[in-house]
Amino acid sequence: MRIHHLTRRRARSGLLAGLLAAASVLALGVTVAQPGTAEAAASLKSLADAKGRDIGFALDPNRLPEGPYKQIADAEFNLVVAENAMKWDATEPNPNQFTFGQGDAVVNYAASGGKKVYGHTLVWHNQMPNWTANLSGPDLLAAMKNHIAKVAGHFKGKIVAWDVVNEAFADGGSGGRRDSILQQRIGNSWIEEAFRAARAADPGAKLCINDYSTDGINAKSTAIYNLVRDFKARGVPIDCVGFQAHLIIGQVPGDMQANLQRFADLGVDVRVTELDIRMSTPANATKLATQAADYKKVVNVCLAVARCAGVTVWGITDKYSWIPGVFPGEGAALIWDENYAPKPAYQAVADALGSGPTPVPTTPV
Ligand code: G3I
Repeated sequence: MRIHHLTRRRARSGLLAGLLAAASVLALGVTVAQPGTAEAAASLKSLADAKGRDIGFALDPNRLPEGPYKQIADAEFNLVVAENAMKWDATEPNPNQFTFGQGDAVVNYAASGGKKVYGHTLVWHNQMPNWTANLSGPDLLAAMKNHIAKVAGHFKGKIVAWDVVNEAFADGGSGGRRDSILQQRIGNSWIEEAFRAARAADPGAKLCINDYSTDGINAKSTAIYNLVRDFKARGVPIDCVGFQAHLIIGQVPGDMQANLQRFADLGVDVRVTELDIRMSTPANATKLATQAADYKKVVNVCLAVARCAGVTVWGITDKYSWIPGVFPGEGAALIWDENYAPKPAYQAVADALGSGPTPVPTTPV
């Protein structure tokens, strides 16, 4: 494994991510003040805290023994979401037999650093355990409700908001539901059944619906908009909408702010839940600059919408991103590279969150 010599030296010496940031951005030819000067970068966490917004990351608790991973996690974020540890296959591998070790590790890590936990995800057609595949409609509904009761019940009081239902709508322009086994066997009611079960299990958690390719105004986001409006009208519990924002450089939807705002106007919170911005690999300075501008745009969108609770990035380092495995030839989507060096996008996020040169006090004459 190739390790950037500067990063390795810094990591060995135990310096924090802010030092890594300054060093590697310098390596990219951008002038950044050294820590200790008036222009030293604050952490993303301190900047987001000051704005009253969440800055989150998807955590794999198995990576925490890796020094730079934990240093960045500790320093830069005020919210944690489990990348995989709270999903149905991870928590209920056999019917009504629950395994919370990994999920508890996420919660315990968050608690140790005073970070919030965002729950992901109670019901998703993907990563369902094999035993659900052959259930009848009534049995699948019962299994889904039991799963929600047990999982949301186990974590009750520790989760600020749950992705109750993930990716329930179809891609393309149909504006319809995804043709999942939940939809096929239970029918349209499965989503509201899930939300009612989640409210009963943890009345203190906000309940969200979450999806991808819904960041701009399009048929899919409008289908979710109509569902939220319908739920609000009929008193089905729903509190928030997640916009995953798995984006491509140069393609942040121009109407993203208007889209989030129209949901907020329905009386729900909104949140950017899984942000990453991929490019064809290898990265180069031009692509990284475009990516940085795109990250800044997305953070600015959230800041411009009063009900946007925050932004979560889908991982720390490009080393462990899901992208290359699913989109061969693409990657470099996160804000730290595979050697934990911060990319220009790191400073762009900091700038958007309000970092910048500290004004030099003037001396009265
Ligand atoms: O746990 C098994 C392990 O036992 C096995 O040895 C290994 C071999 O491949 O696989 C492990 O499971 C993997 C799992 O992540 C946990 O690491 C799966 O293969 C792998 O497909 C799975 O990928 C996750 C993916 O969701 C599943 O669709 C990614 O890490 C995760 O980043 C990704 O996250 C999703 C969100 O939950 C929802 N929105 C889209 C986003 C990206 O796909």
